[in-house]
Amino acid sequence: MDASTPSPLIPESLRDQIRALFPRYPNKRAVTLPALHLVQHHFRCVPHRALAEIADLLEITPAEVHDTMSFYGFFTQAPVGDVRVWICRSLSCMIRGGDQLLEHACSRLGIQPGGTSPDGKITIELAECLGICEFAPAALADDGRIFGPLDEPSVDRLLDLVAQGPVTDPPISPVLAAPARP
Ligand code: FES
Repeated sequence: MDASTPSPLIPESLRDQIRALFPRYPNKRAVTLPALHLVQHHFRCVPHRALAEIADLLEITPAEVHDTMSFYGFFTQAPVGDVRVWICRSLSCMIRGGDQLLEHACSRLGIQPGGTSPDGKITIELAECLGICEFAPAALADDGRIFGPLDEPSVDRLLDLVAQGPVTDPPISPVLAAPARP
């Protein structure tokens, strides 16, 4: 490699993880989505250069990787916080105050929905149904923890909890819930 060529952004260990997926899919193109997940997890975003490097690894064009990436709201070009939390605003959650809880979480962190706390620890996003309506109003963290039913005090506890960083072994039941309403 000549001195003017920048070194690859995606480290060799991550390239190996992507290559290890090849035998499990019918072709390299089919690895686009899992590769994007690995890169998003590693960098907490998919930087533009990484997108081109994924394309190179999969022998497709950057535009094709970009098409897949932009189809899903999950992938971001700017880094997200150490823990990403989606607060649901679909019907079951909305009628139980999901919108206000989103506002409450954002105002406590001094951010807008989609923003990241100044310390880089938490990104708050709104979500359509998370598939956990029985816990409405509910939230989901990207480490797999689920929260609900929530109220403002339990959202405060949620923020304190996720500020401690992601967990590796999330329980399958909600991590915290507001006291039952009378
Ligand atoms: S409507 Fe919120 S989880 Fe389904």
